[in-house]
Amino acid sequence: MGGRIPSQFIDELLRRVDIVDLIESRMTLKKTGVNYQALCPFHSEKTPSFNVNPEKQFYHCFGCGASGTAIGFLMEHDNMGFVEAVEELAQRAGLEVPREAGYREGPDHGDLYDLLEKASSTYQGWLRNHPERERAVAYLKQRGLSGAIAAEYQLGYAPPGWDNIKKTLAGTDTKLADKLVLCGLLTTKEGGHSYDRFRDRIIFPIRDARGRTIGFGGRVMGDDKPKYLNSPETPVFHKGRELYGLYEARKAQRKLTSILVVEGYMDVIALAQFGVRHAVATLGTATSPDHLEKLFRVVSEVVFCFDGDQAGRDAAWKALNTALPLMRDGREVRFLFLPEGEDPDSLIRAEGKEGLERRIGEALPLSEYLFRRLQEGVDPASLEGRSKIAQQAEPLIGSIPQSVYRDLLRQRLNQLVGVEVAVASPQPQPGPVQRPRRSFRPKRRGGDLTISLQRQAITILVQCPAVVAACEEGGGLSQRWRMLEEPGIPLLAELYDRVRGDPGLTTAALLEHWRERSEYNALRKLAGSELAMANDPDALAAEFIGALKQMEGRYDKLEKDLKLEEQLRLALERQRSG
Ligand code: UTP
Ligand code: MN
Repeated sequence: MGGRIPSQFIDELLRRVDIVDLIESRMTLKKTGVNYQALCPFHSEKTPSFNVNPEKQFYHCFGCGASGTAIGFLMEHDNMGFVEAVEELAQRAGLEVPREAGYREGPDHGDLYDLLEKASSTYQGWLRNHPERERAVAYLKQRGLSGAIAAEYQLGYAPPGWDNIKKTLAGTDTKLADKLVLCGLLTTKEGGHSYDRFRDRIIFPIRDARGRTIGFGGRVMGDDKPKYLNSPETPVFHKGRELYGLYEARKAQRKLTSILVVEGYMDVIALAQFGVRHAVATLGTATSPDHLEKLFRVVSEVVFCFDGDQAGRDAAWKALNTALPLMRDGREVRFLFLPEGEDPDSLIRAEGKEGLERRIGEALPLSEYLFRRLQEGVDPASLEGRSKIAQQAEPLIGSIPQSVYRDLLRQRLNQLVGVEVAVASPQPQPGPVQRPRRSFRPKRRGGDLTISLQRQAITILVQCPAVVAACEEGGGLSQRWRMLEEPGIPLLAELYDRVRGDPGLTTAALLEHWRERSEYNALRKLAGSELAMANDPDALAAEFIGALKQMEGRYDKLEKDLKLEEQLRLALERQRSG
């Protein structure tokens, strides 16, 4: 909340997280020497040119030129903002993101979170101690929930009555009562009088990805309607974005690779009780693009689980349509249809963990489901049938961003209908493939890096910051190179000083210091450029020192020229006056 993130924290964060781990949680990497390789997630290719370097903590694609740090990867690959990316990494590393004081961005809802947390522990307390708790406990028992799982999901109880939570949290303080209305715990009548929203219900606290309670679901214990009551949209709770159980799933399993999306609170909890700990539920809404993006930030595979009835089939088709534009190479979506009349809760009680896991293993890949559905009710042997399939498939496949995955689906469609179907693309194709620069060609336009010598020194420094220490150890350098008034020198000097002040900096950490600066993109490109002897730090140090010495030579020569010029000028002046 508020406050700028101190740059020392970014350094520390990048020291703690491993970009290989991070990227591996999104796609499969193959070790090749020092680097890890994969098909580039940012452009379509058939042979891998995407490289991740664990020493530099930096990724780079020789095909399309995409490159960056762990933070940059989350921003590019997961469409996160900078702050979001930092928070995501911090969570992976188990760090709290500190904020500098005196700088606020947007409203701070700290007080609402506090109230929601208090409410949650109050409801939990009531499930343990309230005089009327027996009914609630009996209900949970009858649903087969263990005490341990109820505690893990922080289940609570809202007793009957209109002002239990209001009195407990706000007393007679009307300002506080207004806050309780704002965070959805109280609801108001026309006249403005406020009262408890959740009455005589089992309470399911909903936590965000960081574990903060942001809202509640409340279930009746009998057949009253509505069965579930949920918090309304509030400043901290947005149904279309939150997923029930995501926090708990991540906590239970450090390395999640797949997430199962089910429909209900009770499904998530029952699955967890039986050891299937990677399930989440939407909150009574359809799966939104925000939901899916959130999931793909955590895992590369999402398995949707739907009831085998008509409503389930409709929901599945809707989910497929939501997923298509978010498909990328490396992301996988599958569909699991349960037998009619079952939900995950009933199924795992009937078939156990193994039964459900077997079903998950057999879930239909998105492509399979898509083609089955397209062929439903049409005869793919007839011309009319094939034309109908093509007509329906075209916009669907067209909504997938350019990728190998899309090419493969298109191929399959062509095979099915027997002709090449034009598939409209919603997105501009990425520009022409950039070839890696193999030499330090001076750039014609743009900024500070026009001189090849400086460019070379900066490239080495950025790719191998340890050369600064080597340079300092040598002690032989006068630092006279800094006096050279040429493009690139101020940047080189600044980079040099930054690393001298913190010799442990990796390429990634160094780059992050420049994120807000105009040179950032140029530096990022240099960090990804191919360097001869890249794996030989001693050779790089020698080359770096050599470059600095050449700069000094240039400076000395210029100075000498200047002196000569000055002498000449003086001599001419003397001549004139004489
Ligand atoms: P279900 O009716 O499938 O719920 O609704 P469930 O979790 O299986 O509940 P049990 O087993 O009957 O206790 C799925 C989800 O839809 C939302 C809730 O989020 C619920 O978990 N829902 C359902 C509501 O918000 N309101 C309702 O009245 C019903
Ligand atoms: Mn159910």
